[in-house]
Amino acid sequence: MRRVPPWTPDPLRFPRFALLGGASPLHPLPRFSETLGGRVEVWIKREDLLPIAFGGNKLRNLEFLVGAALAEGADCVVTSGRRWSNHARLTAAAGAKAGLAVHLVLSGPPTDPPNAGVRLDRLLGATVYQAETDDRAEREALVERVVAELRADGRRPFVIGVGGSGLTGVVGQVLAAFELLEGTTARGFVPNDVVVPSATGGTHAGLLAGLATAAASTTVRGYAVARPARELAPTIGALLAELGTLPGLAAVPADRILLDDSELGPGYGIATASGDEATRLLATTEGILVDPIYTAKALAGLIALVRRGELDGRTVVFWHAGGTPGLFEPLDS
Ligand SMILES: Cc1ncc(COP(=O)(O)O)c(C=O)c1O
Repeated sequence: MRRVPPWTPDPLRFPRFALLGGASPLHPLPRFSETLGGRVEVWIKREDLLPIAFGGNKLRNLEFLVGAALAEGADCVVTSGRRWSNHARLTAAAGAKAGLAVHLVLSGPPTDPPNAGVRLDRLLGATVYQAETDDRAEREALVERVVAELRADGRRPFVIGVGGSGLTGVVGQVLAAFELLEGTTARGFVPNDVVVPSATGGTHAGLLAGLATAAASTTVRGYAVARPARELAPTIGALLAELGTLPGLAAVPADRILLDDSELGPGYGIATASGDEATRLLATTEGILVDPIYTAKALAGLIALVRRGELDGRTVVFWHAGGTPGLFEPLDS
């Protein structure tokens, strides 16, 4: 029997366009756990197996962002990100499913031949504009230009911020926490920890708020993959404060934010040796692939915690947030 969720978003404030089609798989990783010494029971939440365009955590945000766009009467969506952006690819896919044209403004420089992300975005029907450089201000100026041009053409664009991690999108991640607890409770446990990659912080904040609302004692251990913890933690704190204003959602104090940037390496989108080792360990024990930009770094963090004995006797869920097309991106290492 399904449990009643501890909170449901008000459908008038947060209209939803269905993209998930059910819970993402949740299962144990017995050979991976055993190879790490059998001190910790590691499970995995397969956000990477959500149903469209190689899956990924951002589909949860997009259910509510596309819902908002449709409710507003938009006829197209504009969003932006780096050339490998999973959020951009999934926006293209969600737009295709909703019948909305999608315009993606991506950091440059363009590669020849086009990188995997851009090829997939185009296959999904998106119009891609690529900046000359990876300068963020240049990309933002290009977003403004694209939006102005669409409006001048009589179109009604709905603009989604980088990563789709404003309040509307993050509501989807709150529901992911309830889904996790429903899955683990049905299997007879509540996880001690969830280990998650954190870039814009929306997934981290939503999971924390959802777990707190459900009164679960689970900790969320975020691994910063894009910005150092001192920059990211205030963003997560601000999202938690906003979520805490929604009737029925728990207010989570900032001291509950656990962020570790020891796996960030030289920076966003640059592979690390520990990430590569983590990737091989999961692939060769369980046949599951992670990506070098996000999930490999969080998995490397989890492995380091296990090796230091910090998770002994605990049950830990690794949040496989998706991103596997990143394996085909040209990256520095
Ligand atoms: C595969 C993957 N994992 C993790 C993240 C980080 O999620 P958030 O931006 O909510 O911190 C992203 C963000 O793009 C992602 O694509």
